[in-house]
Amino acid sequence: MKKEKIVIANWKMKLSISETLELAKKMKDKFVSLEESNILLAVCPNFISLLDVGKIFEDSKIKLGAQNVFWEDYGSYTGEICASMLKDASCDYVIIGHSERRKFKIESYEMIHKEIAAVLKIGGITPIVCIGENWDERKTDRRDFVLFDQLQQAFVGIDIEKGQQIIVAYEPIWAVGSGTAIEPSEAEYAHKVIKLTLNDMLGADIVNENFKIIYGGSINSENINSFIGLENIDGMLVGSASLDAEEFYKVIKAVIC
Ligand code: PGA
Repeated sequence: MKKEKIVIANWKMKLSISETLELAKKMKDKFVSLEESNILLAVCPNFISLLDVGKIFEDSKIKLGAQNVFWEDYGSYTGEICASMLKDASCDYVIIGHSERRKFKIESYEMIHKEIAAVLKIGGITPIVCIGENWDERKTDRRDFVLFDQLQQAFVGIDIEKGQQIIVAYEPIWAVGSGTAIEPSEAEYAHKVIKLTLNDMLGADIVNENFKIIYGGSINSENINSFIGLENIDGMLVGSASLDAEEFYKVIKAVIC
């Protein structure tokens, strides 16, 4: 059987509520033909549209994800949303530690660690943990160290139950939203570094059983083909190219071929 491929759409804060629902409906209709494929497809809309998008995707293969989560499960945390609320809203996935949150909300790896722990404790939701170096770190040859450090801070001391899935998204910050993906060979190399680091930290059995590693950063229908078939890349996290049903469909078709 062909290996399952993961494609996650991150709609960020780029669509109004009505645009979000319209795109969700379009995707549900257009993607029916993918029902039998080896794809694991999830869409992460804004918080305020989660319930309605969830209803649209009911009875389809498209899963629902959130773009963020808070680490406590109850209390005086104005403006925050916890993992059990996401579960109530039928989310199967949640993005944690996206570089835009690290930049604009000054999220630290201590917070990211607590968010991962909270999601795993609730169970039933797969965290998509974003890591990746910035341009300065890349050009001064510090990428491997940065990945190692981010993985350590995120996962050391985390309890992983049998069967619990965790996705690590390698998102080089300099490629995210730039319109140009990095060289596929460089992505493959970084994924290998991530896999070997996780193997060292947690043991290869746990990594093979519980972890998937996906790439994110300016993936579109033009460049997707050069990422297909790379050994350590289990899928894609797609931003801009997921905002158009036709374009996103082309990306997905390339991934499952
Ligand atoms: P992009 O976004 O595809 O627009 O670069 C990816 C992401 O931020 O997850």
